[in-house]
Amino acid sequence: MKIHLIVGARPNFMKAMPVYNELKSNCNDWDIKLVHTGQHYDYEMSKVFFEVLSLPEPDIFLDVRSGTHGEQTGKLIERIEKVLMEHKPEIVMVFGDVNSTLAGSIAAAKLGIKIAHIEAGLRSFDRTMPEEINRVVTDVLSDYLFVTEKSGIENLKREGIDERKIFFVGNTMIDTLYKILPKCSEEDLKKFNLKKNDYILVTLHRPSNVDDRDRLEEIMRILEEIGSKKPVIFPVHPRTKKMLKNFNIKTENILLINPLNYKDFLTLERYAFCVITDSGGIQEETTCLNVPCITLRPNTERPITEEIGTNIVLRDRPISDIIKMMDNIYEGRWKKGRIPDLWDGNAAKRIVEILKESFKF
Ligand code: UD1
Repeated sequence: MKIHLIVGARPNFMKAMPVYNELKSNCNDWDIKLVHTGQHYDYEMSKVFFEVLSLPEPDIFLDVRSGTHGEQTGKLIERIEKVLMEHKPEIVMVFGDVNSTLAGSIAAAKLGIKIAHIEAGLRSFDRTMPEEINRVVTDVLSDYLFVTEKSGIENLKREGIDERKIFFVGNTMIDTLYKILPKCSEEDLKKFNLKKNDYILVTLHRPSNVDDRDRLEEIMRILEEIGSKKPVIFPVHPRTKKMLKNFNIKTENILLINPLNYKDFLTLERYAFCVITDSGGIQEETTCLNVPCITLRPNTERPITEEIGTNIVLRDRPISDIIKMMDNIYEGRWKKGRIPDLWDGNAAKRIVEILKESFKF
């Protein structure tokens, strides 16, 4: 059995690692190849994750890099198709909702190769998000839809996907979290000059927040205000860095740092007083860590993190409402979270069992 795992952007690496390891240790006679598209290429956005997660060098590297969505996705499809035509895997595995996910599934589907989608079924119902388009198209083309939360099952059924293709397995990103968490100690906060429960961690990179000058200026103004009470630490994504520079936005009370490796970032998340983010995965990680999370987005494709977790989505409220929301945390009135079903560190095991069973001769 030949399987290709296609990864390309930062959040893919954490989702792929446990599946890759599980395949390697349990499917000895399978030919397993890791294909890195190069959608993310900076050391801090890519290689450092391979190092911290002990992932091997990719077997195939496609060096696609950035561009408009059409340019990037087009290049991705072209290069992935060549690899698939040469190696002829029986199954291609794609992760999450980035452009590499979409391109991997289109290239595989056109060649009649079976597709396994890890993190299928999530929906924000907001087609202005590039990721939503990637999710919908990937799911419609997939043969194995591995779902992280129950909303995913409902969404896929509603879209008419055959139930026999849908598998509720849990969350491979949370497998990785449990694996790395024991290595994250309070001691490590010293290098950031921070104290447990005494700082706010911020991440922002969505085009809807950072590509618009007025919106980004307003967010940074509110963060400045928050930073006058407790330290605010903000590892800055390359897109955000570029926009802060273009808009000439300066900060005083916010500690802007380069993107962090997974272990350091998880350490900051674990001990944060609260997290303010527009990421997808961070809503899930904070729920697992029982850390309050405020999500600067109009919606979430991960509703379980609001239903039973520690996440609250700002939705269409003004950005200044973050300050009111934070008062609730200061006054100890934030909700307590629970860990969603099957987020137990064993999602990759379930996925590999299902694939093995399905490809048994
Ligand atoms: C991508 C994903 C997004 C995910 C995010 C995590 C898509 C559509 N979006 O967004 O879902 O949450 O990754 O980080 O796939 N850049 C660099 N160095 C890099 C990578 C990017 O400088 O290593 C810069 C480039 O200027 C590029 C911009 O960041 O134009 C955006 O990169 P891109 O991969 O297009 O999307 P992200 O915003 O990173």
